[in-house]
Amino acid sequence: MNKITWQSPSNIALIKYWGKHGVQLPSNPSLSFTLNECNTITELFWKEGDGNIELLFNGESKERFTARARDYISSIDSYFPNLKKLDLHIDSINNFPHSAGIASSASAMSSLALCLCSMDEEISGKKLSKEEFYRKASEIARLGSGSAARSVYGGFVSWGISDKLAESSDEYASPLPIKVHKSFEDMRDTILIVDQGIKAVSSRAGHKLMSRHPYAKQRFALANKNFRDLLRALQKGDNSNFIRIVEAEALGLHSLMMSSSPGYILLKADTLKIIHRIRAFRELSCTPLCYTLDAGPNVHLLYHDKDSAEVEEFITQELLLYCSDKYRINDHVGNGPIKL
Ligand code: PMV
Repeated sequence: MNKITWQSPSNIALIKYWGKHGVQLPSNPSLSFTLNECNTITELFWKEGDGNIELLFNGESKERFTARARDYISSIDSYFPNLKKLDLHIDSINNFPHSAGIASSASAMSSLALCLCSMDEEISGKKLSKEEFYRKASEIARLGSGSAARSVYGGFVSWGISDKLAESSDEYASPLPIKVHKSFEDMRDTILIVDQGIKAVSSRAGHKLMSRHPYAKQRFALANKNFRDLLRALQKGDNSNFIRIVEAEALGLHSLMMSSSPGYILLKADTLKIIHRIRAFRELSCTPLCYTLDAGPNVHLLYHDKDSAEVEEFITQELLLYCSDKYRINDHVGNGPIKL
């Protein structure tokens, strides 16, 4: 069999994508940075065949993931005319817990999309420019999981049309075309794992509830404003606005879940205890650190590289007691996927 391998990272959204329409199109622009340590490595094997698809996830065959991969691949066959004449074997390995709110679908789907785009180039013999290749991979990744569209690029990335970014698109993500202040370039993210369990309500179900959410209109307008304000804060190196917006987005995401119909709660008691500790520490120390949350109970603690020693002491003394098995992942802004 022929083989292609890509390693692709997860990302953490600062402005959240929550709510979609049409074919996986976002209801508001989102902005994230790509992580470095939380990765999926996907090996894609192919040979001539009849469209059979097998998938191993972390070395095991899981019906839920295989069914999702089959649905996904059949949904994108218009992009890859040769797919139906191939047998595919996908081997995906994650180095962090899946379905626990660390956007594992972002790394999984982006690595698979990159493999499919590389395979298509090999089979067709038609090589795209670097820009076209990543744009296509982002679009294909988006069709598997919206947040995955952003993971094909390193650094700070946006996805979704914003009146502040002329080239922005709902179809694919792009690296932020603005110069991010150097104090944010090496931003650190320590992911405090409060709970490693599979979350009770999937993001897919959560997005769906936004289509009849009583606050949907206000949310999408606010996300646009937060997006614009965060761009400015990132450019200027403005910590206080960065912290204000990022934390408002985190709590806003979870308040949308709570006020959905039916409402639901993914936060745990220990998530809230960590948030209170972070606020108290910031007030006392004046260290510009803050938190964000993904669709789960785990807390992403964001801070500057220069404050790492002080924050590490805070984490070990005050936060690790709330983490499951004292588990945390030290991560930071990464450079994006790698073809292996
Ligand atoms: O990519 P999805 O469809 O799993 O949605 C994830 C949405 C959030 O992770 C909660 C926010 C985001 O923008 O990544």
